[in-house]
Amino acid sequence: MTSFNLPEWSHPHRERVLTCLRNAFTTEESALHQACLYPIETGGKRIRPLFLCAGLEALGVHLTADHDAYIAGASIELIHTYSLVHDDLPCMDNDDFRRGKPTVHKQYNEGIAVLVGDALLTKAFEILTSLKTTPAQAVQLIQLLGKAAGSVGMIGGQSLDIGFEGTIDSIERLTKLHRRKTGALIAVGLEMAAVLGQATPTQQEALHTFGQQIGLAFQLADDLLDAEEDAQEDGPPNFTKLLGEEGTKTLAEQTMKQAIDSITELPNPSALLALAEFTVRRNH
Ligand code: IPE
Ligand code: IPE
Ligand code: MG
Repeated sequence: MTSFNLPEWSHPHRERVLTCLRNAFTTEESALHQACLYPIETGGKRIRPLFLCAGLEALGVHLTADHDAYIAGASIELIHTYSLVHDDLPCMDNDDFRRGKPTVHKQYNEGIAVLVGDALLTKAFEILTSLKTTPAQAVQLIQLLGKAAGSVGMIGGQSLDIGFEGTIDSIERLTKLHRRKTGALIAVGLEMAAVLGQATPTQQEALHTFGQQIGLAFQLADDLLDAEEDAQEDGPPNFTKLLGEEGTKTLAEQTMKQAIDSITELPNPSALLALAEFTVRRNH
């Protein structure tokens, strides 16, 4: 374990991302904006924006309070939040609680939950047009986010998860599901860091490999946390059903190690290394 103080490091970054998220829905007072702020204010780990910040720091970039990283990080968090609002709906996972609070369709109603998800999704792309970076870089970020969020990314993973592409009965198919459903929105933070931090091709490759592996490791850790809940035969696909808990733990650790090995040569990887360890060894 590293001695890096992750909570202390994370605090200012989380606050600055939260400010961007709030700013996105306080331009006009409306009941819809209030509802959009509800899943934003219920928190969450904000790990996707934190990966982006840590990726930039790994490249040696110092993050001032007005750095584009926070808007870019907020754009990923908006997509993540929308995915959860829709994922909890009765037509998907039908969950009444998230982060200890009623889900959006329970707090409001199903129609509002659909609209809140839609508004969060579209806002993610709108805020990327307000970056200070060059238009060419902004277009690159928009393209990366679109791909990570869409049919070959998170939505593609959700489609696999609900069985629309057939049964998930092998490690290969489950790995593909995890890489898409969860990995893509984690990996995109590292890809965005490479763009904003003007990484060299070697650094770009390092962040890419790290993002791919840590995205998979994140969902392996999630499978371990959800093992009991998902255990029933008709429950969702879960690695522990194919490999057992010990096998999944070993694979998660191996995947984290591959991620870590790829970034040790970057100028300042401490935060990224600490986040990688947290990803696999977290308890929530
Ligand atoms: C939960 O993601 C859903 C998955 C993609 C596995 P997080 O564990 O990042 O959720 P929050 O945002 O911290 O609540
Ligand atoms: C959440 O997935 C939605 C996405 C990853 C897009 P899960 O259904 O696996 O996670 P929880 O259990 O609702 O947080
Ligand atoms: Mg769910």
